[in-house]
Amino acid sequence: MSDNSPVRVLVTGAGGPAGVAVLRSLARRPDVTLLAADMDRYASGLYLVDEGARFLVEPGLADTFVDSLVDLCERERVDVLFSTVDVELPRIAAERKRLDAVGTALAAPSLETLEVCLDKFALARRCADVLPTPRTELLGTTDPGSWDYPVIVKPRRGAGSRGVHQVDDADALRALGADEDILVQAMLPGDEYSVDTLADADGHVVAAVPRSRLRVDSGVSVAGCTVADRELEQTARQVAEAIGLVGVANVQLRRDAEGRAALLEVNPRFPGAMPLTVAAGVDMPSLALDLALGRPLPDSVPFAEVAVVRYLEDVFLDPADVLAEPSGEAGR
Ligand SMILES: Nc1ncnc2c1ncn2[C@@H]1O[C@H](COP(=O)(O)OP(=O)(O)O)[C@@H](O)[C@H]1O
Ligand SMILES: [Mg+2]
Repeated sequence: MSDNSPVRVLVTGAGGPAGVAVLRSLARRPDVTLLAADMDRYASGLYLVDEGARFLVEPGLADTFVDSLVDLCERERVDVLFSTVDVELPRIAAERKRLDAVGTALAAPSLETLEVCLDKFALARRCADVLPTPRTELLGTTDPGSWDYPVIVKPRRGAGSRGVHQVDDADALRALGADEDILVQAMLPGDEYSVDTLADADGHVVAAVPRSRLRVDSGVSVAGCTVADRELEQTARQVAEAIGLVGVANVQLRRDAEGRAALLEVNPRFPGAMPLTVAAGVDMPSLALDLALGRPLPDSVPFAEVAVVRYLEDVFLDPADVLAEPSGEAGR
């Protein structure tokens, strides 16, 4: 990449809200050429970029996914890769050196950070001595008689609230058996917040923007508001330091019985609600791009309190412009 040629940025997961959010943010930068990828030819974000910059990729769990993505990055001379798909991220981060070798910087936290976040048990242990963290144990080894009820039971490596439920007494907990992949966690009864958090190359937190989710429809936040609250910001900073964050993560907090902000979990990626954080004054996709390019970030970026309501938007296309189904002979 020469100094004034545009930076070529590929965003995967172009059909999801996080992918669209990253694309729309980076589209405002005159120094960026955007490329978009998804496994689905109807992924809306594909059609936010120029024809010729739209790519169909294999499912993130396919055996050859990383190989073909590295090939795509090399072929398209991608300078920076943003992955917004949960299942892809650790697989890609594990091959960061191969991307580096073809000249592509991965805009994502380190593999070590991703791994500690994706295991909610490891995360709770990492944070327990640093910030308010609910008691968290494995169903297989915990003593049901030792808890205050109700408790929360959830998968050790879950997402999208799947498998999360409340258990009201020790007998009901015993009845669940002894699965090592299930967590028992003290219930946090208070309000819940998501804090979009960005740390620079030294792990210094540049911005931590708390949002409340005012309405959620099928797991997607459809109304929300940024909240200026020092304690939430400070707690997210402590989490970022504990997990060695470099880049962007979404720290989820909930108030405990004493009203303190406590750790729920960390999603080590861009959230679908990122447009609110951008509108509040912290353009995290753009800052994360600068970080990936090795450019210095400001010491801190302030934000305003802003509310948002959301709706679906229609993008009309010539049917001929919809990407074709990948052909069978390509071996996919
Ligand atoms: N310890 C807890 N106390 C109260 N509510 C919880 C607790 N753990 C999870 N929940 C509820 O379940 C939702 C999903 O849990 P979370 O830990 O964020 O997992 P994931 O989003 O990965 O499925 C949370 O947003 C919260 O509303
Ligand atoms: Mg969650």
